[in-house]
Amino acid sequence: MTILLRRLRANPTLQAMVRETRIHLEDLIYPLFVVEDRTMAGAVPHLPAMERIVLERLPEVLEEIALLGLKAVLLFGVPRYKDCEGREAYREDGVVQRALRIGKGVAPSLLFITDVCLCGYTSHGHCGIVEGKRIDNRATLPILAEIALSHARSGADMVAPSSMMDGQVQAIRERLDREGFDHIPIMAYSAKYASALYGPFREVACSSPQFGDRRSYQMDCGNRREALREVMLDIEEGADIVMVKPALFYLDVIREVREKFPVPLAAYSTSGEYAMVKAAAREGFLDEKKTVLELLTAVKRAGADLLITYYAKEVALWWKDIR
Ligand code: PBG
Ligand code: ZN
Repeated sequence: MTILLRRLRANPTLQAMVRETRIHLEDLIYPLFVVEDRTMAGAVPHLPAMERIVLERLPEVLEEIALLGLKAVLLFGVPRYKDCEGREAYREDGVVQRALRIGKGVAPSLLFITDVCLCGYTSHGHCGIVEGKRIDNRATLPILAEIALSHARSGADMVAPSSMMDGQVQAIRERLDREGFDHIPIMAYSAKYASALYGPFREVACSSPQFGDRRSYQMDCGNRREALREVMLDIEEGADIVMVKPALFYLDVIREVREKFPVPLAAYSTSGEYAMVKAAAREGFLDEKKTVLELLTAVKRAGADLLITYYAKEVALWWKDIR
């Protein structure tokens, strides 16, 4: 008897049949940045999926996305005005709220997820209320709940709190339940690391902190056990889906969360991951399509069910060739 593992690789059809990990369009979540006026529309240079979309253009963008077979978008708003408490984030006519009403009208079959945070809306660029030089966790919670509620009222199908404030999931869950939105799920950015891979995002979202950094609330990249505590607490607080972010540098964390917790798991392949592949591909160092598919397959193989990626649209465009 000869044991030949290669027997299953020799025939491409058979190889495809025994493949353990596959990406589906249902796995992908496409982030979108929306702005109210044309003067703010625009892009991070050379990063095509990272441009700000003006509300008037949103219908055509969403129709294209839906037509390509994508199922879900994650909305970020870039507001016209900022103040120290991020009031624009929960205004009934705020940019995300308007985008939701437009979006649900033109693409009712798409799932609209909204990022719930303050950093894009505060003048200081932090994810919470600032007291002196510190972030006031307790004062931030009711504001996050207010933002989530206003998104739900405008038609959000799911809210995704990303501020890394302790207790944010519970605060949002209680508020949504009290206001008649107990059917709206929460996808929690549970293990969100303080990462160098958020650079391009902050450029498009205009959300860089104006002083200090986010290390007092986002996780230290050296910590793995702590990620399990973050996830555990979020599940106890009522998170329906938990998330690890970034994805590529944190595959071990994804695997561990997958093994320890029986909840759906999302991984956020960040703007920095996208930029790394884009830049290398543009230089001719890497084959873009192959690299992206290997990257996303690895994140899924590590244990993620859902992949948040700026490459979602391109993957959908490549779909016919890659299956
Ligand atoms: C807001 C938020 C950030 C990202 C998603 N939501 C940025 C940050 O924490 O600075 C990063 C996404 C990316 O880099 O693709 N809290
Ligand atoms: Zn934030």
